[in-house]
Amino acid sequence: MKTHLITGAAGFIGSYLAKYLLQEGDTVLGVDNFTLGKNETVYQLKQFDTFKFIELDLSSESSVEVLIKEFHYEKIDVVWHMAANSDIRGYINGPQVDINNTLMTTVNISKFVDKRNIDTIVFASSSAVLGSSNRPLRENDGPALPQSYYGAMKLASEGYISATKSYFLKNYYIFRFPNVVGPNMTHGVIFDFIEKLKVNNSKLDVLGDGNQRKPYIHVEDLTSGMLHYIEKNLSNEIFNITPNDSGIKVKRIAELVSEELGVSPKINYENKEYGWLGDVTNYSYDNSKQLSNGWSPKFSTEEAIKKSIKENLI
Ligand SMILES: NC(=O)c1ccc[n+]([C@@H]2O[C@H](COP(=O)([O-])OP(=O)(O)OC[C@H]3O[C@@H](n4cnc5c(N)ncnc54)[C@H](O)[C@@H]3O)[C@@H](O)[C@H]2O)c1
Repeated sequence: MKTHLITGAAGFIGSYLAKYLLQEGDTVLGVDNFTLGKNETVYQLKQFDTFKFIELDLSSESSVEVLIKEFHYEKIDVVWHMAANSDIRGYINGPQVDINNTLMTTVNISKFVDKRNIDTIVFASSSAVLGSSNRPLRENDGPALPQSYYGAMKLASEGYISATKSYFLKNYYIFRFPNVVGPNMTHGVIFDFIEKLKVNNSKLDVLGDGNQRKPYIHVEDLTSGMLHYIEKNLSNEIFNITPNDSGIKVKRIAELVSEELGVSPKINYENKEYGWLGDVTNYSYDNSKQLSNGWSPKFSTEEAIKKSIKENLI
């Protein structure tokens, strides 16, 4: 049985992962400052005796000492760093939110890992580190030229974690997620469409022209993929975790959400290719490293989308 510290444990992916590990009989220590995470999610996780939680802003340097004090008696095996500004459109408030919640949380959690001699850190990265490309993204593509502050701070975090290996860290796993979907989402296109249609089901305003095409993975597959590489001890590498397809257009997602809700809104598209500044409008992942390492997801992009629409309507 292991002890895991999960940052961003009140968020969508962190809470799914926490519940999975708790059900496996492991101990989970959760940290979140509730910028996007939800109190009710933590309440549900607290039903497990082996879950402990602290509310803490990991962007502040003082959080390192708080973590040391609060988790003094715990022998931590793995830190899963899921906390970040996951709202890629948050640039509206300037870069500071990405610098604080993505990069500085990485710096501070790494200091904690060092002080507590923890062996392993798992980092939630993104396709956004690479920017645009006209071919499926490979793990070793370069130069990495992000086009959003979000992507830039994920790339800086990858670099920071990689550098810590020279000083104290034993193992890192950097996983580049595509769009992730599943129950209890806190943001993203499905979440947006459902929220908009709940308010007014006669129209649906879509960001961009609807032709943006991206791959989506279900959080159940994402969790299984990350654990696959960790169980095989394939540390100190970057892995794409991806469906085995080139994704789905936003237009199709709008249709699927409307169908599932049983509504026929007038769907309004914008006269521009991108949904927001910094949006990588079309990308897919190269899956050859994933296949050669013996892992494949259960769900295609479209299956993952359909499943998660249902899960978010419950
Ligand atoms: N969901 C996706 O499609 C996707 C895609 C690629 C990468 N990722 C990455 O995966 C991770 C999890 O994403 P998610 O979808 O669960 O997002 P989420 O927003 O639901 O979860 C992130 C959590 O981090 C917390 N957090 C933010 N700043 C913090 C801070 N300063 N201190 C403590 N907690 C803080 C938030 O409150 C939130 O609960 C993020 O790092 C995200 O960038 C997500």
